Amino acid sequence: MYPLPDQMPPWGVSTVPNPITGLVANPMGQVEIDEVIEAFAAAARRCQQGGIDGVEIHAAHSYLIMQFLSPLVNHRTDQYGGPLENRMRFLRQVLEAIRQVVSDDYPVGIRVGASTAEGGIGEIELAQVIQILEADGLLDFVDVSWTDYYEFKFVAAMDQPMGYQLPHASKLTAAATKVPRMVIGRFRTLDEVELVLRDGIADMVHMTRAHIADPDIVRKTRAGHPERVRACIGCNQACWHGTNTGWPLACTINPVTGLEGTLNEDLIAPSDRPGHVLVVGGGPAGMEAARISRLRGHRVTLVEAGSDLGGSWRWRSVLRACTRSATSLSGSSRRFTGWAWRCERAPISMSMTRWQNTLTMWSLRLERFRAETAFSMNIRMRRWTAMTSHT
Ligand SMILES: Cc1cc2nc3c(=O)[nH]c(=O)nc-3n(C[C@H](O)[C@H](O)[C@H](O)COP(=O)(O)O)c2cc1C
Ligand code: SF4
Repeated sequence: MYPLPDQMPPWGVSTVPNPITGLVANPMGQVEIDEVIEAFAAAARRCQQGGIDGVEIHAAHSYLIMQFLSPLVNHRTDQYGGPLENRMRFLRQVLEAIRQVVSDDYPVGIRVGASTAEGGIGEIELAQVIQILEADGLLDFVDVSWTDYYEFKFVAAMDQPMGYQLPHASKLTAAATKVPRMVIGRFRTLDEVELVLRDGIADMVHMTRAHIADPDIVRKTRAGHPERVRACIGCNQACWHGTNTGWPLACTINPVTGLEGTLNEDLIAPSDRPGHVLVVGGGPAGMEAARISRLRGHRVTLVEAGSDLGGSWRWRSVLRACTRSATSLSGSSRRFTGWAWRCERAPISMSMTRWQNTLTMWSLRLERFRAETAFSMNIRMRRWTAMTSHT
């Protein structure tokens, strides 16, 4: 809930302050409610006309429809407040209005997620919402997320394990018996997704950050090379934090994300003046510099003072908080974000020596730099890559 461009309070359900911004909404009257329902329907019609394959109505994450559903936020005394039947009236009317303007076979579903806040809409009531709407033929699919602005775990970082939403989501997917059900939550590889599908918890699995980190995740896996996937490390730095602080979408472990039009690998042209490039430092930036230089046809020597590739990030992999990141961070640092893997297989000369004291030094510095380094590293890498791709 953010102020309108004219700084007026936004339309909302009741005068309950937004838990993050503190803003108090202007409760909508029937005229405003009708206008928003009409706008939902008009948007869905445009989606179909524009060739979009289906629409998902967002009834999760503390947004307007979830505010209507939630007894914590919805204090209305009219036909939209009180018992569940009333609190789900707005959602029902949105779906009914959409059904009237799109073709019968056009997929329309909802995104829901239980609140963990005291008094918020929990799994029991949301399961009822799903059952009722499904029985009334208003749903073609259900997409289950988890939490809202009160706890904010719907884009959880590396402190949460793969599939962390499943214990909660499975209570909602169980409520839908006729339509496909989707779940989400830190899935990084297709193997991880396969486990969920095999267990029958859901029929589809979303992967948001996995695709931001590597848009070719499906193609690489299908081609028999899952080890080449750049697995999302759940840092939330360049994608979530970045976009929420005004930066364009980017990814800490993939400098090409968001710049595919200019930096994609298939656009890299051989250099007119192939030479010998010396890269000093085998951290992510050094490895990417070496890799791109090699792709441009240069002879490359990468010099690393430590005993292994990975730089400061390698030491992060030993942090307890990071060990939950399983495939990408814990265990062998060689698989670390995929760079080491790529460098070791490219014809790049590498020189590494043991530098015994680095572990102590890094463990002292680590906590202090933990938050900023990943993001600033990404910016530097993007600049470097942009430079090397044009020389
Ligand atoms: C950069 C970014 C933007 C997002 N924007 C939205 C959004 O507009 N609406 C939404 O429902 N979820 C949004 N999400 C949440 C994702 O849909 C998803 O629920 C979340 O990232 C967890 O899935 P993952 O672990 O596969 O990334 C966004 C996530 C990211 C990282
Ligand atoms: S910046 Fe990249 S690695 Fe980090 S969470 Fe976002 S997608 Fe994953």
